[in-house]
Amino acid sequence: MISEFQDTVPRPTDGFPPVHLDNNKYENVLEHLDSGIMLFDSNGVLTFINVQMAKLLELPRSLLSGCTLMQMLHHPQMSRFKKKKILRIYRETIFHRKRYHELIDEYGRHWLVTVTYGDQMDGDFLFSVKDVSDYKQIEQTAYQNDKLAMLGRISASIAHEIRNPLTAIRGFIQLLRPHLLQLGKDEYARIILTEIDRANDIIYEFLNSSKPSAPQKTIMSVNSLLKEVVLLTESEGLMKGCEITLDEAEVPLNVSIDVKQIKQVILNMVKNAMDAIEDVGEEHTGLIRISTGTENKYVQISIADNGQGMDHNTLVRLFDPFFTTKESGTGLGLSVSYRIIKNHGGNISVDSKKGEGTRFIIMLPLV
Ligand SMILES: Nc1ncnc2c1ncn2[C@@H]1O[C@H](COP(=O)(O)OP(=O)(O)OP(=O)(O)O)[C@@H](O)[C@H]1O
Ligand SMILES: [Mg+2]
Repeated sequence: MISEFQDTVPRPTDGFPPVHLDNNKYENVLEHLDSGIMLFDSNGVLTFINVQMAKLLELPRSLLSGCTLMQMLHHPQMSRFKKKKILRIYRETIFHRKRYHELIDEYGRHWLVTVTYGDQMDGDFLFSVKDVSDYKQIEQTAYQNDKLAMLGRISASIAHEIRNPLTAIRGFIQLLRPHLLQLGKDEYARIILTEIDRANDIIYEFLNSSKPSAPQKTIMSVNSLLKEVVLLTESEGLMKGCEITLDEAEVPLNVSIDVKQIKQVILNMVKNAMDAIEDVGEEHTGLIRISTGTENKYVQISIADNGQGMDHNTLVRLFDPFFTTKESGTGLGLSVSYRIIKNHGGNISVDSKKGEGTRFIIMLPLV
């Protein structure tokens, strides 16, 4: 029986019989690859373009095949944005002889362009384009986490360095207190002690917020949490001339959260929204709209304002620790919020337009 079976198993020395694909099959594979592919001959004429590449260029393949690069750049149906990107790729890869070039398209996706030419290509130029948005996202998250971890370490050492001398000062003032009392200056001792305690509290608060501890979770309804936040911020909002509204989802939405931490996140965002509204000017009627909804297995909390909005430079650095555009800001609000939401298995996204407003969306897993 075994010997019968062994006859059917190829021996290592035999190797597997080579499989031959005909040219049609090869072409079919290339046509439907998830990367975009374009082949130019030595005269710069486009001789092959696959489905994905035509999709990226948003033009039918029949219009592109046989074109030269120059003709492509003058194509009336190609958008100006794409023409600019193609020109840039041409400059980087052919002119500056770089084999790789990264770009972001008009929809915010990251693409890696690779060019292959030389002897192995017989004078042809092969361009391939691959969507690397997911890798970029992972890279950015890792970078963000690294920075937050570093911030945690710095904070811990600051606390150590400042708290120790404060404890010593507190001890000696207590020893001096009876002497100050004799001099009728007990009030001085009292003030020094209160101020030392206040400094200690500030350090404690700072450490707690810059390095959020593991969440102590309880199950809670999102709506009652948001009602509380609105209650807490309404009067400050009124003073600053902005109305805060809450649109609750009709169904009750429960999440498992550290209530103190998530409240801190939403308060941070509402406070940022108020600041952004204040910066527009006194005449402006501010509006902060908090609303809830669901997406797949997540609760969505949206905090939208009609404040001054953000430019590109602010948007890309928004969650960086210590990044602030405010005179008295610490720039910790959003970086800490980001860490808290990530610790809860959620996510924060933001959409903003300069001069129009900003919308933050917090996603938290539904219970
Ligand atoms: N809703 C918003 N509209 C416009 N800009 C915003 C908004 N939210 C945040 N920002 C920008 O992001 C920056 C970082 O915000 P973050 O909350 O981390 O720090 P901060 O508000 O500057 O300081 P802190 O929170 O310590 O008071 C802000 O300085 C501001 O430029
Ligand atoms: Mg803030």
